[in-house]
Amino acid sequence: MGRLDGKIAAITGAGRGIGRECALLMASEGAKIVVNDLGGNADGTGTGHIADDVVAEIQAAGGEAVSNTASVAEVAGGESLLATALEAFGGMDILLNNAGILRDRTIFKMEEADWDAVLAVHLKGHYCCSRPFARYIRENNRTGCRIMNFSSVSGLFGNFGQSNYGAAKAGIAGFTRVLALELAKYGCTVNTISPGALTRMTIPLMEARGEEVAQENLDQGGPQHVAPVCTWLASEAGAGITSQIFHASGGAVAIMQQPKVIKQFNKDGLWTLDELDQVVPQLVAAREANDAAAEETGAPVTL
Ligand SMILES: NC(=O)c1ccc[n+]([C@@H]2O[C@H](COP(=O)([O-])OP(=O)(O)OC[C@H]3O[C@@H](n4cnc5c(N)ncnc54)[C@H](O)[C@@H]3O)[C@@H](O)[C@H]2O)c1
Repeated sequence: MGRLDGKIAAITGAGRGIGRECALLMASEGAKIVVNDLGGNADGTGTGHIADDVVAEIQAAGGEAVSNTASVAEVAGGESLLATALEAFGGMDILLNNAGILRDRTIFKMEEADWDAVLAVHLKGHYCCSRPFARYIRENNRTGCRIMNFSSVSGLFGNFGQSNYGAAKAGIAGFTRVLALELAKYGCTVNTISPGALTRMTIPLMEARGEEVAQENLDQGGPQHVAPVCTWLASEAGAGITSQIFHASGGAVAIMQQPKVIKQFNKDGLWTLDELDQVVPQLVAAREANDAAAEETGAPVTL
């Protein structure tokens, strides 16, 4: 008995990295998998057929999978993901919006094309794949479905040189909170994953810092560490857990704060600038105390 027996999962960007590990683990737990991947370069250029390799791996291990090479950055690509699941397996229960690219530049050098490409794959990609799935859930009253959206500490905390990626990843956390409300009626959970893993996305960053990536690093911080959290959330055990941000990186699994008002002052009428001289420092101090308390419980592991 697998934890995902009878379930059908579509995983975007599952040709390598975190998506591939999620596909392999979910398949080993009995899910039938649509392995989506455009197969391009890390900056989003090019195409390839790496999705077929993951399908072959799953099949060799006795699982069921089918490939889809559409781009999630296009509405038709997102629709084809659902169509592939329906055609191959007759339904869809789980969507992992994992596909991603990077085009790191500071704002001084950020060209429109770099901004648009990253927003298109990450933020629009979430919309393109989620809308057909949401409509399918509603039209068929399909209960117990799961959506996992892939954010990043880059967007949740901020990271130098990633205004395009960080904006998309922060947007994805907001997108999750709204979808969780809109799909609650159908028992579909929608959560944000904030992963950390040594993949082609992060290994070059380590190498640029002069750090060598040894097998030991890959064992301790590889993408395989993110897959159990996603698989658990996709299973029956994850029912009712929705609108959360889970951080998974190496041996760490964590839950993150959501935006909330920490401290508030109220008055009738306009605040004067002199009053704000008093109040704003108190607000900033309250936030610092809140941060300090969260730091005590553990800062997330980043790679
Ligand atoms: N690795 C990390 O530490 C880390 C940290 C934070 C967030 N993330 C996020 O996790 C997700 C997976 O990252 P990864 O590290 O496994 O990266 P990866 O580069 O190893 O894998 C991403 C996959 O997405 C595919 N892809 C890119 N554009 C696509 C498109 N338009 N349509 C379909 N597929 C497309 C790529 O071909 C690639 O195989 C991404 O959303 C990434 O932003 C990763």
